[in-house]
Amino acid sequence: MAEYILEVKDLKTRYVTRFRENVYAVDGVSFKLKEGETLGIAGESGCGKSTLAMSLMGYYFPPLHYTSGSIIIDGRDITGEDPEVLRRTVLGTEIAYIPQAAMNALNPTRKIIKYINDVLVAHNIRLSRTELREMAEERMRLVNLPVEVLDRYPVELSGGMKQRTVIAISSLLSPKILIADEPSSALDVSSQKLVIKMLLDLIDKGLVKSMIFITHELPLLYNVTKKIAVMYAGQFVEMGPAHESVFEPLHPYAKGLMGSIIVPSEGIRDEHLVAVPGTPPNLKSPPQHCRFAARCKFRQPLCDSVVVPERFSSDGRLFRCLLPEAVLRELKYEDQIKSKQEDAEVELDVNIIPFAEDNGDGDSGKESGG
Ligand SMILES: Nc1ncnc2c1ncn2[C@@H]1O[C@H](COP(=O)(O)OP(=O)(O)OP(=O)(O)O)[C@@H](O)[C@H]1O
Ligand code: SF4
Ligand SMILES: [Mg+2]
Repeated sequence: MAEYILEVKDLKTRYVTRFRENVYAVDGVSFKLKEGETLGIAGESGCGKSTLAMSLMGYYFPPLHYTSGSIIIDGRDITGEDPEVLRRTVLGTEIAYIPQAAMNALNPTRKIIKYINDVLVAHNIRLSRTELREMAEERMRLVNLPVEVLDRYPVELSGGMKQRTVIAISSLLSPKILIADEPSSALDVSSQKLVIKMLLDLIDKGLVKSMIFITHELPLLYNVTKKIAVMYAGQFVEMGPAHESVFEPLHPYAKGLMGSIIVPSEGIRDEHLVAVPGTPPNLKSPPQHCRFAARCKFRQPLCDSVVVPERFSSDGRLFRCLLPEAVLRELKYEDQIKSKQEDAEVELDVNIIPFAEDNGDGDSGKESGG
């Protein structure tokens, strides 16, 4: 077993539209996950969460294309591997993805046990009818689902039960990494809790080794994951332990996002509910300077003229902002306008990095995906 279950290095992927336009949906994402770790990814709609999830599988098909970067799963670099090899030896076993709204994609006229059989057959595991039944029932018990579900049609299951069944099917081969994309959206609160409990149980029981949990519901992330990454316009702008990310966010966007929590969980501040004004940049032509600049109340002149690198705070948290850590630690999102006036002369403490000539449009470097 390698030190990290998952290592993602400067991953860039993009969509190519039918008009041959590039949409830079994942643009330089790096992170690492160890066994037993869960990473939560939060961010506004359209920031690239689902695209990142799909990209992590290493399995690209149009309109999604790989541009550059690497994905290493338990020491194996899957970047650029043959799609058929990936399908047989990586998808489902090393890494599994539960797509957003997957439960609504189940064919209502197929019994659940058929889906389980499909997963096995796709991985060349052929069982007799009796063996299949035994295996499926054992798995259902292991994940605390009633075995009767196996003989039900999706249409006969409640939303919560359908989602838990999808999770059971997706994790059937005990993948090292399970990515759950908005697994509890559109469910009532008690179903949400059961879904979350099931996901955490999978890790506790060793059925999956690590998990990536995607949602735009931050209070949920805080309760589920130990580490949170905040994504903005295709990039991670902040990543660190859940507590610090929620209570002491560094990046101006993360500060705004935490302030806009609508349903405060116990202990999460609820006095100032502020939405982040403005809209994210168009990912077809994102600015080379700070992507949040157009909405940032801390914006300084330099913010519009240099590339903002990923930086690390004194306690090891990632943040993508030019302001000094000490300044960011002091600033509150609510104080921004005042702070901007006071801090107009604030000294930025990073080296100026000129704009990159190739912003990842795929004209150079390794490519795949059609
Ligand atoms: N098939 C596609 N072709 C072109 N662009 C796409 C395609 N799918 C998504 N995009 C664009 O890629 C960007 C990222 O989309 P993505 O679905 O990954 O965001 P998200 O963070 O998952 O959003 P949500 O919270 O709504 O699920 C958006 O700008 C979106 O419009
Ligand atoms: S780099 Fe400048 S514009 Fe961007 S988030 Fe930091 S202060 Fe705001
Ligand atoms: Mg999504």
